[in-house]
Amino acid sequence: MPINPLPTRFLLNPSLDRLKPYGADERTILSMAGGRDALAAIRLWEGYKPTPLLSLPTMAAACGVASVQYKDEGQRFGLKSFKALGGAYAVQRLVERYGPANMTVTCATDGNHGRAVAWGARRAGIRAVIFVHEGVSEGRAKAISAFGAEVRREGRTYDDSVRASARAAEFHGWHIVSDTSWPGYEDTPKAVMQGYAVLAMEIEAEGVRPSHIFVQGGVGGLAAGVLSYRWERFGPDRPIMTVVEPDKAACLLASAHAGIPTAVDGDLDTVMAGLACGEPSLLAWHILKPGADAFMAIPDAAAIETMRDLATLGIVAGESGVAGLAGFRLAAQDPAMRAALQIDNASRIVVYGTEGATDPDVYRALVGQSPEDVTA
Ligand SMILES: Cc1ncc(COP(=O)(O)O)c(C=O)c1O
Repeated sequence: MPINPLPTRFLLNPSLDRLKPYGADERTILSMAGGRDALAAIRLWEGYKPTPLLSLPTMAAACGVASVQYKDEGQRFGLKSFKALGGAYAVQRLVERYGPANMTVTCATDGNHGRAVAWGARRAGIRAVIFVHEGVSEGRAKAISAFGAEVRREGRTYDDSVRASARAAEFHGWHIVSDTSWPGYEDTPKAVMQGYAVLAMEIEAEGVRPSHIFVQGGVGGLAAGVLSYRWERFGPDRPIMTVVEPDKAACLLASAHAGIPTAVDGDLDTVMAGLACGEPSLLAWHILKPGADAFMAIPDAAAIETMRDLATLGIVAGESGVAGLAGFRLAAQDPAMRAALQIDNASRIVVYGTEGATDPDVYRALVGQSPEDVTA
């Protein structure tokens, strides 16, 4: 199943230093030791099990590679996305440090991070106040309040709601559990990203060694979390990693062009709601700048087509969760991108399917079938 060729922006990372060892500087942000701690903690949570790594042989054949494997996060802890590994883990770390008494946690979210923080807060028996912006669907807001969190709607974009939650935290003395970082606010986002390393560790535990990874970027935390583990572990022999963003919210691509963290303007209106971030996380950028191989920006149509193609294989994948796979399919079909990324018929591709149908109504509208019909 080839994908329709669509306009795509692509950049080999001009700041890449592939031979650079994973140094002390990077380790103060994320480390393998920190990843092991996260896995040791998360493994004890009720319902923990590694998510499946699904083989997609028809896509591999259509794309002219040896294999494509899709890590399906659709069932992670029943939250339908990978985010529990970050947000709920960071809540646990805060509670361990400060104790649960009178603790309130807050964050901004496009949907998934807030759901993870709300779930983590409920597990810890503490209060959560979650900020969503006007573009977050009602279904996603309801899924957050279902975990007992208070949901407040403020601002036009994700970045506006980040600032609203930071203001409220300052005023009330709440703890911010943000998945993005800014000067002076680093500890908790580090814990969030560190939890994401579990994705890489679970794949390694299955004995899978990809040659290429395509991973979607919002603020860059997920990409930094999975890159850091492999960079520290395998150095220059790590897989070639491409970060894929929606073309309406490609702040990591813009940062790679500029060589410094760079925000993109506009209303960031993309169906890939979880990736609608206009400002990179500074900590994530610190890892991605020297370590990511390439950046891509793809149109919404590529994500929607990939959701539909996965549905024909019985896989329920959400619009933000398929961006990496959609980016790979576009790159594999384009001779220039294929050559730049050294993709050939021996390549072993891993992508992270970071969400299932996190909003079933949106899913049905985009795919034309309900999630239940797809899995039936
Ligand atoms: C489903 C999904 N995938 C990927 C991401 C990207 O993560 P990050 O913002 O850490 O880059 C998000 C962010 O919310 C998401 O919801």
